[in-house]
Amino acid sequence: MVAGQPAFAPAALQNVQLVREGHLAIVSVNRPSKLNALDDQTIAELDATFAALDADAAVGAVVLTGAGEKAFVAGADIGVLSKQGVLDGKQNALRGQALTLRIENLGKPVVAAINGFALGGGLELALACDVRFAAKTAKLGLPEVSLGIIPGYGGTQRLPRLCGTGAALQLILTGDPVTADEALRIGLVNGVCEPAELLAHCKTVALRMVSRGPQALALAKQAVRRGAHMPLADALQLESDLFGIVSSTAEFKEGMTAFLEKRKPSWLRA
Ligand code: COA
Repeated sequence: MVAGQPAFAPAALQNVQLVREGHLAIVSVNRPSKLNALDDQTIAELDATFAALDADAAVGAVVLTGAGEKAFVAGADIGVLSKQGVLDGKQNALRGQALTLRIENLGKPVVAAINGFALGGGLELALACDVRFAAKTAKLGLPEVSLGIIPGYGGTQRLPRLCGTGAALQLILTGDPVTADEALRIGLVNGVCEPAELLAHCKTVALRMVSRGPQALALAKQAVRRGAHMPLADALQLESDLFGIVSSTAEFKEGMTAFLEKRKPSWLRA
């Protein structure tokens, strides 16, 4: 695959752009005229894209961002939401949740580059990523109650787990967005960048992760993700199980040997 070139034929993906740069994949939600709002097609394309990236051993990390100057993702598509009833409303939430679960459980790191509005489903996508950086100009929020609905792509569950119940309930119950600096203060993002520097910063962080052992990354992420839902004793058991598994890998031998031989490790990647 040619570095810097779209990885799929444009006919296959309309609302998502995928660019490969070495072991890095940059995924952009690409509906700028609708501020990258998530309609059914965009959700399906994102889901297929992340599934393909998960299966591709040559991909070491993913950066997720929004096309255009204004938005990361301005939410689920309100035109679609406005037509839903009980059954398709629930199905809509389940589709969005399945996408966020796929991102959260991806066997490689995902970095969100929040380049503008991250509202509703947009913030929920970012919440499923492993780390988040925001442009100084970004606005982040869960405005669903202002539309007479509630967050349905994981926001009511992931936001309090990340920022605590108090901060989460303020965002969820007022519906008001916060600035990037406020998001940093409440632990919603890992850092704030000048807009022009955001993508480069996210790529640098993602490449730092790519320089580490790929299996170690996957297992460390698994320990954190699965352990978060367990009582401490069970989570520690999980950690020790995974520690045992990682100690049996060729990657473990290479990492240890490289340190003792005072050289950089050479990881096996496709
Ligand atoms: N769903 C569908 N379309 C959306 C959208 C969404 N979530 N967010 C923005 N758009 C569309 C607008 O309808 C508009 O389309 P149009 O030009 O065909 O009318 C286009 O994107 C540009 O948005 P606009 O509102 O003109 O931009 P703005 O800069 O004035 O305002 C926002 C930006 C983000 C404040 C405003 O678009 C907004 O409030 N969007 C909805 C956010 C939201 O509630 N998301 C959660 C949904 S559950």
